Amino acid sequence: MAQESMHRLENRDWWRSSVVYQVYPRSFADSVGDGLGDVPGITAKLPYLADLGVDAVWVSPWYPSPMADGGYDVSDYCDIDPRFGTLADAETFIAEAHQLGLRVLIDLVPNHCSDQHPLFQAALAAPPGSAEREMFIFRNGRGDGGDLPPNNWGALFGGSAWERVVDAEGRPEQWYCHMFSPEQPDWNWENPAVVAMFDDVIRFWFDRDVDGFRIDVADSMAKDQAFPDNPVDPRTGLGTVRKFIGAPFWDQPGVAVIHRRWRAIADSYADTPLGPRVFVSEAHLTPTERLVSYVTDGRLHTTFNFDHLWCEWTAASYRHMIDLTIAAHAAVGAPATWVIGNHDVTRPVTRYGKPETGWRFTDEGPHPEDLAKFAEHYAALPTDQDLGRRRARAAALLAFALPGVPYLYQGEELGLEEVEDLPDHVLADPTWLRSGKTIKGRDGCRVPLPWGGTTPPFGFGPAEGDPWLPQPDHWASMTAEAQSDDPTSHLELYRAALAERHRNPALGGTFAWDETADPDVLSFTRTPGFRCLVNFGDAVVPLPAGARVLVASNDVSQGLGRDTAVWLSL
Ligand code: BGC
Repeated sequence: MAQESMHRLENRDWWRSSVVYQVYPRSFADSVGDGLGDVPGITAKLPYLADLGVDAVWVSPWYPSPMADGGYDVSDYCDIDPRFGTLADAETFIAEAHQLGLRVLIDLVPNHCSDQHPLFQAALAAPPGSAEREMFIFRNGRGDGGDLPPNNWGALFGGSAWERVVDAEGRPEQWYCHMFSPEQPDWNWENPAVVAMFDDVIRFWFDRDVDGFRIDVADSMAKDQAFPDNPVDPRTGLGTVRKFIGAPFWDQPGVAVIHRRWRAIADSYADTPLGPRVFVSEAHLTPTERLVSYVTDGRLHTTFNFDHLWCEWTAASYRHMIDLTIAAHAAVGAPATWVIGNHDVTRPVTRYGKPETGWRFTDEGPHPEDLAKFAEHYAALPTDQDLGRRRARAAALLAFALPGVPYLYQGEELGLEEVEDLPDHVLADPTWLRSGKTIKGRDGCRVPLPWGGTTPPFGFGPAEGDPWLPQPDHWASMTAEAQSDDPTSHLELYRAALAERHRNPALGGTFAWDETADPDVLSFTRTPGFRCLVNFGDAVVPLPAGARVLVASNDVSQGLGRDTAVWLSL
């Protein structure tokens, strides 16, 4: 292993400041030409990621899965989907990432599995009350003959959170709980056998040198065992899926107990060459104080900052969101994360190019609703892509200059937009089907990446394979190849910023606002000698005399224009 890579892997605090790159496997790189990305495809692109300047790679689920929810419906937690490769391919990927000094995070999906998981199939075959059924949440229905669901809970992908099963003779009997699609039955976390099974899954991957897990819906596993009805959402007539305090299936007290148990397992790897392992929580919780309870008290290490993702593009909202984030994390001694995109949301270029860019920030933060509905809302608004791209460049420089852990979602570094005009017949997101084909869902941010060449599949895979979602023709000018060595490109901006982040000690230094700045300009310093300015207003702002430009999101030779960010050496 090269000296520098060794050195990076010796840093036990890497998770406090790393830049993490999210790979969505089926859309990243296809090594065989079946139109789906795969693990050897990711391995082949590791040099690209190292060169981009990220420190860690998070791979969304790569497990065997019927793909009812893009892999978030797992049928075996300790293997790789054959379409993505083999366990040996995963081991090669992990080893090669480490050779390059890159840490590896993978997804843990503990709330639910696939309805094809052998344990769920066994539960279906077993009678009510059996040990097999106790692995999941089966209940008798209400009303005459148990014909009504056990309560009014709604599922996040639409419809009821309960699905009725039939016995061997085809007679309807019990119902099982699924907070997402019916193909994703929820595990019964009250059952010690479930708890023990996940301990083993976590150790299985830690023993294969995975550095940590991103925990899917980390606030979901425990449920109020009284299974009370939720307040009714007038739009659906079902129980709301909102995450209000005390909601019976989000952020229940039992969740903390599970987190602490996993933390102890991660800490027990302290004496291994890779050091203790880490967790990042995916939980859409507001306000920020509630969110950071997940990274205190022996629980998890970091948690996604969705307040950042939903922040509207104005100086006042951004300033308020950053203040709340930094203060809440400082109070518990955890690093903040900075997130502007992922595989569930409209890509930032498109969001920032809409007349509404997010939520005006209050102390409570936005109310997290069904993710798919955000996409639906954005889809109805017109997009100015040039504007969005300009803002996305500034947003990236801002995020990379803040203290903590920036996440970037594949393709963000290429400035890809949401593909808003995918034809209906290619849509695969469960939201599309569950909404009666009224809400397109999240496929627009999951279109396979363009790597090179001038015609689809743009180097995503061998020329003969059609990618599982079609790529827009104009992506010919947006491939990694086309953007490389063009100093004005999105990709080269990311490379320049991440290289500077590595080399400049101030980007690990103390953060302070410059309170004298114009209200439309965010201005802060990191010590020693670094300033970041972001202009959200119309007026061009002169740069401070004597400052040297390190990186700029646009030409700043005539001053700092609208929707532009600059890093300065003072
Ligand atoms: C993942 C989604 C997934 C859901 C259910 C999420 O928050 O990011 O992609 O559909 O969990 O597993």
